[in-house]
This record gives sequence, C-alpha cells and structure tokens, in this order.
Amino acid sequence: MDISVKNQELTNALCNALVIGVFEDDKTLTQSQKKLDSSLGGLISDYIIKKEGFKGKFADSEIVPTYLKIPSDKIMLVGLGKKKEFTNTKLVELSAKVIKQLDKTLNVKNVCFELLGVQSGNFDTQKCAQAISEGILIATYDFDKYKSKKSNSQIKKVKITTDNTKDEKLAKAGVNCAKIICSAMDFTKDLINEPAQNATPEAISEIAKNLGTDLGLEFSVYNKKQLQQMNFNTFLAVGQGSAHEPKFIHLAYKPTKKAKKKIVLIGKGITFDSGGLDIKPANSMLTMKTDMSGCATVLGIIQAIAALKPDVEVHALSALCENMPSGTSYKQGDIITAKNGKTIEVDNTDAEGRLTLADVLTYADELEADEIIDIATLTGACIVALGQNITGIMGNNPDTIKKIIQKGKECGEALWELPIFDDMQDMLKSDVADMRNTGSRFAGASVAGRFLQNFTKSKNWVHLDIAGTAFIDKPYRELNKGATGVLIRTLTNHIMSM
Ligand code: BES
Ligand code: MN
Ligand code: ZN
Repeated sequence: MDISVKNQELTNALCNALVIGVFEDDKTLTQSQKKLDSSLGGLISDYIIKKEGFKGKFADSEIVPTYLKIPSDKIMLVGLGKKKEFTNTKLVELSAKVIKQLDKTLNVKNVCFELLGVQSGNFDTQKCAQAISEGILIATYDFDKYKSKKSNSQIKKVKITTDNTKDEKLAKAGVNCAKIICSAMDFTKDLINEPAQNATPEAISEIAKNLGTDLGLEFSVYNKKQLQQMNFNTFLAVGQGSAHEPKFIHLAYKPTKKAKKKIVLIGKGITFDSGGLDIKPANSMLTMKTDMSGCATVLGIIQAIAALKPDVEVHALSALCENMPSGTSYKQGDIITAKNGKTIEVDNTDAEGRLTLADVLTYADELEADEIIDIATLTGACIVALGQNITGIMGNNPDTIKKIIQKGKECGEALWELPIFDDMQDMLKSDVADMRNTGSRFAGASVAGRFLQNFTKSKNWVHLDIAGTAFIDKPYRELNKGATGVLIRTLTNHIMSM
C-alpha cells in the first residue's frame, strides 16, 4: 500500500473515492468541504441535512455519487462522532474501518483522504496524517505467506490531501512516522505468526543478526556452551528438552550524540511452549508458537528506534529456546541455581518464561541502565484478569508505570497496573531451595511479577504481561485477529519522549 501526501483542492482530487468527515454535534462544513459542496450543487449538504440515517455518528458512512462533476468517482462521507471525543486514537480506528469498507466496495483502487477531523482542534496536522496512515497500514496487514491465494488489498494508492505547503510538510512527516511504526509492527506480527517449525531459536537469532546488520546495530549471539560459562542456568534448564539449541541475543542501538538515557528491553523468547513435562492440554497448546511475542516485540521496537534515531541508548535482549518434554527435559523437583546465585525448585515446568527471564534480568543489571522493561506472554492469569485487549503492567517504580500507561492511552493501547506486594514472596516458598517457580492458583500474574523481581537490582524495572494482548482471536478496533504488534506504538513513543 502506497500512502503519500498531496497538496490539492478536494475538488481536484483524482481518485475512485474521496473520504471526508463531519461531526455528529457540529455539521458545519470546513472551507474545503464547502467548495466541494458547491461544485456538486450542494449535494453534500443535502445528504447531511436530508438523508435519513446519516447522523454523523462515529464510523457511520454514506457513499455520495459525484456524477462526474469532479475528478473523484464518489465521495465517502464518514461520521466522526462527538467533537470532544475525537482523538487521534479514534482516528486510527476510523481510518482502519474506512479502508476495510472501501476495499470491500468494488473498483476502489485509488483513495484520497482529507485531513479527517483536524478541525476538532484535538490534534495537529502531523498527528492527523500519522493516525490516518496507521489505521490504514494496520488494518491491511495480513499473514498470507503460506496461502496459495493471496488476499491482496485492491487499494493500491492512498493520498492524504492538504491545502497549503506548511500542512503538506507536516502531513508528510506524520505519514513517515506511521510507516516506520507500522513496518516495525508488520515485522513483529510476521515473526509471531510464523510457525514454530520455522521460527526456531537459531532462525530468530539469524533474523536478529540480519536486522542488526541492515540497521547498523551492535549484535551478539551466545550459544549453549557460552551460556554455560555465563551461568545462564535457569534459561538453559528450560531449553534442555528441545532438539533446538538455545540462543541468547543482544542488540544495541547507540546514538551518535551522547545518550540522554539508557534503556534495556527484554523479550520472552519461548519459540514453542508445550508446557514441558507439565504438558499443556491440546487446546492450550494451539497458539504456543506465539510465546516468543516478547522477543518479536523488542526486535520491532529497536527497528523503529534505529529509524527514528533518538538520543537514547536502547538494548534489546532475548533468551530464545523451546519448552519441550523429552528424555533430557528439566523435571519437577529439579533445583537450579540462577545466574545471580539464588536457587529455584522447579514446581511446574510450564512456568518456564519467568525462569528464562530471570537470568536475562541479572545480565541486564550489568548494563547499568536507567530503565529495564521486560515484555512477556507470561501468564494465563493475566488474561483471566484483564482479557485480550489490556496489557498487564507492574514493577517497582510507580512513576515509570504511570508514564507508560499514559503513553499507551495516547497510542490507543490499554494497560492496567497489577500490584506486586513484597509478601507475595511467601507464596513462592520452597522447603528445599530459596524459592520455587510457582505459587498457588491465586494472583498468578502478580506472583509471576514478584518472582521476576528477585532477579533484578534495578530500581526502575517494569514488567509487561502481554499473554492476552499479543495474539487475539477476535478483531479489535484497528487490529485484525492474530498477532497484534502490541506495545510497539506505546514503547517506541515512550522512548522517543525520554
Ligand atoms: N506461555 C504461557 C502463558 C500464556 C498462556 C501465554 C496463554 C499466552 C496464552 C506460560 O508459560 C504459562 O504456561 N504459564 C502458566 C503458569 C502456571 C504454570 C503457573 C499459566 O499461566 O498457566
Ligand atoms: Mn508455559
Ligand atoms: Zn510460556
């Protein structure tokens, strides 16, 4: 899909469909819309005033014919809803709906958008163009790599229309940002959707290496032998039942100027979670190729960061392995010494994510970062608590948690804080080791967070549980079902605002 910006009158826009919007509670036409209306002999105002059903409610739409009086074949009049409620996240959702509808409508190949709803004053031209582009690019993502019949979108070209050179420049910047963010999201979604048979630790580490080479990032990968020397014992224990060798990857973006901040991102990288000897029931295993979503997310973020080039040093770490039952698997009752020296009794081999993250958190401490964020499809309990559209957030720094929740709000990604209480450590008590890797069935997401806290010394650590949000089975707002690329928008913006 090719999205560009063009400075032109709406009356001159050459396309199959021209998309314009009106508010439910203020149907006054903008200057450009008025000109368009008069070229059509007042047809648009007629539709708005007389047509039953078009109330301008959010995402309402109406096709208005142009009878060849202007270069555009038809006009799509869309409702923007209430003026006050129209934010850029609403615009992302709306553009996604519009593009899907136009794609289904026959013969639409070229579409022009006005700067929808910019007259609300709730956001500027750049944000408006960015939101429209994000909605379009996110909505048209499809994983059809393995289908003989590709579901290619009919729409080839989208032009966002501006009416002066200043806006044109701003809109171009917005479109450019959207392209960077959305190509990172596409990359992440592709990697999550890829079956575990291909997305092995080895294959993902190759992808990360190529990403590093293409973007000029520092890259290291460590194999089993090296990891043994580095004392990544809990990570290696999880991977020891698999035929695929575990890999630990470390990518780093370093700004040319002196870095204002240093941030470490850690992504859970279980390429398939069978549960191990505590094997999962078939149904729960169906989507477990997605258990490396955290890894795919941190790779996507560092890709976007390499393009946006902030003065922030960003590290992306992931311990990649498969959790499989076999003769060499780690077992219930095994006692493992983590990289930081604490001993863990394996209570459940299906609570593997926290074990792989433990060693990486300890490794991350050595980087002496200002902020450490881990992203993991960690607990079914988080899905029970928050569902598929809200990410769980917890950690030891209330200010950072608040900031990230706020960034999420601005990007249309919902996060909700879950508590970590110190005495939750009691639930992890073991008779034979410093702790065990699971608690009871209560407060599962929080107890997993409490477990992780044992392995970081950082005073600014945030844990994000994306078990529910990384992969959805029903479309939601602008998102199609399948992998979502959740948190790429939120965390990229979080880093950009440091
Ligand atoms: N990868 C799963 C969590 C998960 C579940 C992610 C559903 C996405 C969808 C994780 O490794 C796991 O198995 N967690 C267990 C922990 C339990 C054994 C304490 C869980 O949530 O059941
Ligand atoms: Mn598991
Ligand atoms: Zn898992």
